[in-house]
Amino acid sequence: MELSSNHLDFLERCKEARKVALSFKDPLIVHHYDADGITSGAITISAFLKENKKHRTFPTKKLDDFVIDQLQKEKEIIFVDLGGGNKSVNELQDVVIIDHHQTKGIEKLQANPLLFGIDGGLELSASGVASLVFNHHFDLGAVGAVGDMQYPLIGMNRYVMQKGVGSGELEVKNELRMYGRYSRPLIDFLAYSDDPFVPSLTYNAENCEKFLSDLNIETKEKEVWRNYSSLSFEEKKRLISALTKLLIDKGMRWAASELVGETYLLTKRKAYSSTYDAAEFSTVLNACGRHSHAEVGVSLCLEKENSYEAALELLKKHKIAIREGISFAKNNLNDFGPFFFLDARGIIEDSIVGIVCGMVSGGKTKPILGAAFSESGVKVSSRGTKKLIDEGLNLGKAMSAASEEVGGVGGGHRIAAGANIPSESLNHFLSYVGELLRQ
Ligand code: C5P
Repeated sequence: MELSSNHLDFLERCKEARKVALSFKDPLIVHHYDADGITSGAITISAFLKENKKHRTFPTKKLDDFVIDQLQKEKEIIFVDLGGGNKSVNELQDVVIIDHHQTKGIEKLQANPLLFGIDGGLELSASGVASLVFNHHFDLGAVGAVGDMQYPLIGMNRYVMQKGVGSGELEVKNELRMYGRYSRPLIDFLAYSDDPFVPSLTYNAENCEKFLSDLNIETKEKEVWRNYSSLSFEEKKRLISALTKLLIDKGMRWAASELVGETYLLTKRKAYSSTYDAAEFSTVLNACGRHSHAEVGVSLCLEKENSYEAALELLKKHKIAIREGISFAKNNLNDFGPFFFLDARGIIEDSIVGIVCGMVSGGKTKPILGAAFSESGVKVSSRGTKKLIDEGLNLGKAMSAASEEVGGVGGGHRIAAGANIPSESLNHFLSYVGELLRQ
């Protein structure tokens, strides 16, 4: 990829951030708890481990004034995948910010593509920024981007990906994009891959077995379960055509068109594991962070012993929560005019509601907002589609402005954003967002 002058200026900023970060004596590395936050956190932690330098870590769900208050005594802080959205960081001592969220009024050193005219919501994740800052782990750079809905990898993400391919950490393949191509027996692969939700197959193992048998695809070879990656080219072709036809017949042309696409493989990880494919790996990391164990995700990124088993346990929990969340969402989406609203307070966890909204947003002509109870009030997550942001949607701006209106905090990206607001202000918040979206 050819780099323009703003790309080059951004890379200079990354170098500066690295120099200052590594000059810190014992920084606290504060990172976000989702897949992008975990990968970018791990990339940063790994730089300190390589140099044998002291550091401490602090994964967090959000960076509000309450968390910032707790950090007042810290002499040196590196914020990763957050920090750029809260002006109170200006009151802290020595700070470096590695972020890609919408940002305003920050006076600290910040490596953030948005400051250089590069779209941090679509073209560079925090993991990508961190891999450019520390010049390593480009494979994790791709994992965080995919986990942050930045698919396919374009712009600066593609530059990161090409670096990964060049260093032998990544391979790019055009493939069926469903979950578990390497790690799941064929029937489970079809039955439990709920993105997209395939009517009559998803969560119906019996139908999946019949579907495969009708296509003349054996599910076992010498008594051992086969997985998708072990199918012959002809078998894959039959399966993809049948899935495409099924989705089109059920009126899901948008899902059919997204079935096959680029996939990113982490060639240094074990094949047939859940960390081999970037999308699958990012789901495992989301499971860790969103079930309060971001540290397990970081260990998995750093290939620490026993981390894989611990992460898979959290993945089981995550899958159940998502499955229940989706089935609730399917029957409880309300049309609020400029957006769909999912009132999941008391039903879906605040850490999961955004993922559920994302999974039911496919093919929708309006964004989805979902509300859940959080420890300090209400969390609202919002998700749009690429088509909607091409038409001008900016959820990050809407969440930020509406949360400010009701005394909360919010922000994020054009396509995915969130807010934490006082419980009693939900109605006012929603009508304010409605006004902004109408405009
Ligand atoms: O939590 P959720 O997945 O819905 O978050 C979507 C995006 O919005 C994330 O990038 C997150 O960092 C951002 N967000 C934010 N402020 C909040 C909540 C979420 O900037 N209060």
